[in-house]
Amino acid sequence: MASGSGRWSPRPIAAGPGFLIADEPTTALDATVAAQVMRLLNRLKTGSMGMLVVSHDLSVVAGLADRIAVMRDGEIVEEGSTRQVLEDPQHPYTLELLASIPSAASRGTRLGGTRAVLPERGEARGGALRDAPPPGTRKPPILSARNITKAYPGPDRVDRTVVNSVSFSLEHGTTLGVVGESGSGKSTAARIVLGVEKPDSGEVLLHGAMWEDLRRSGNRTARRSVQMIYQDPLSSFDPRHTVGRIIAEALSAAGVPRTARAERTRELLGLVRLGTDQQQRRPIELSGGQRQRVAIARALAADPEILICDEPVSALDVSVQAQILDLLADLQQRFALSYLFISHDLGVIHHIADTVLVMKDGAVVESGPVDRVFLRPEQAYTRELLSAIPQLPTPRPSKEQILS
Ligand SMILES: Nc1ncnc2c1ncn2[C@@H]1O[C@H](COP(=O)(O)OP(=O)(O)OP(=O)(O)O)[C@@H](O)[C@H]1O
Ligand SMILES: [Mg+2]
Repeated sequence: MASGSGRWSPRPIAAGPGFLIADEPTTALDATVAAQVMRLLNRLKTGSMGMLVVSHDLSVVAGLADRIAVMRDGEIVEEGSTRQVLEDPQHPYTLELLASIPSAASRGTRLGGTRAVLPERGEARGGALRDAPPPGTRKPPILSARNITKAYPGPDRVDRTVVNSVSFSLEHGTTLGVVGESGSGKSTAARIVLGVEKPDSGEVLLHGAMWEDLRRSGNRTARRSVQMIYQDPLSSFDPRHTVGRIIAEALSAAGVPRTARAERTRELLGLVRLGTDQQQRRPIELSGGQRQRVAIARALAADPEILICDEPVSALDVSVQAQILDLLADLQQRFALSYLFISHDLGVIHHIADTVLVMKDGAVVESGPVDRVFLRPEQAYTRELLSAIPQLPTPRPSKEQILS
C-alpha cells in the first residue's frame, strides 16, 4: 500500500499476500472514502490474511484490530486486546490518546455530547454574543461571501466550476467550519477569501465593505487583517530562515519598527507556547506541532482579525492536534479572532466550529449552527458524511477517569 500519498492501491492484495501492512490507510482520505477503505480492509481480514494496521487514529485501529500496541517515542507503552486497551487503558499516554482525539471524542456518541473530554472553549463560543451590538444597530458580519463562483479549465481545457455560488457569513469572534470531501472546493474558496485568487463572479465583504476594493486601495490594515494557516507550514517557510527571522520578517511586513521586533517576537513565541530558545532553529528542525505554532505566531505578527485555517491539524498526531486546537481556541478568546476553519475531519469541526458549511462539488449543501447540522442534518449528503465516520466500538474513559 502506498502510505505517504494516502492513495489506496489494490496491487499488494492482487499479489495474494499472507500478511498486509496498512500504514495510515485512511489518513489522507475524506470520511466517505475512508469508510470504503475500512470496509475493504475488514473484508480482507476475514480471510486467512494477517494484518498490521499502523495509524495515529485510534478509531481506525479499533475498527480493524484484534490487539492494539500503543507506541510512544519508539517504544511500546501498552499492549493488549482492543477491548482491554479501549475499556481499561493502563498507561497515561493511552488515556491521553483516547481523550485527545477530537474526532473520537465526538464520534463516541455519534458527534454528541462528549466534548467535555476536550479542552472546553468556554467563553470563546460566546464571542459573538459578547460583542453583540444593541438591537437595531446590528453590525455586518466580519466576513461574508456572496455567490462566489470560480471555474478552472480541466485537463480537456473545458471549464469546470469548482466553487459554485457559495455564500456564507462569519460573525465576529466565532468559527465557521467548512467540511466536504476532497475536491469539493474548500481550498479554492479559502484562496478567494484570502484574496490570492479572484472569483469569476460574486464578492467577498470585510466588515460589509468590498474586500477587493480595500485590498486594491492599498489599505494595509485591511490586507493584514486576514491571515492564513496551512496544513503544511514548511512549504510556506523559507527553509534557510530561522524561526526568529521568519517572525521578524512578518513583523517588518506589518510595519512594526525594527527596535520593537525582538521583544514582540518573544511575546509571540510565548503566545503560541514556544520557548524563546526556539528562535535560533530552522523549521525543518522542529516537530509538526512546533512548526504549526510558528505558523500561528507568524500569522499573529500581522495583528489579524481573521485566520483562515486550511486543514491546520490534519497532518498532526492526535494528541498534538488537540493541543493546537486548544491553542487556537485560546487565542480566539484572547484576541476575539474569527476563524474560517477547513477540515475534512468532522470531529475536529464539531469541536471547534460554531457554524458550519457542508460543501459538495463546489456548492454549499447545508449550513447552520454546528450542533443543528451535525445532530439534525437536513440533507441526505450531510447524513452520508456523518454516517461514514468510524466509531469507537466501546465506551471510552470519562473525563473523571482521565483526571484521576
Ligand atoms: N489552479 C487550479 N487549476 C485547475 N484546477 C484546479 C486548480 N485549483 C483547484 N482545482 C480543482 O478544483 C477542485 C477543487 O479543489 P480544492 O483544492 O478547492 O478542493 P478541496 O475541497 O480543498 O480538496 P482537498 O480536501 O483535497 O484539499 C479540484 O477538482 C481541483 O483539481
Ligand atoms: Mg484543500
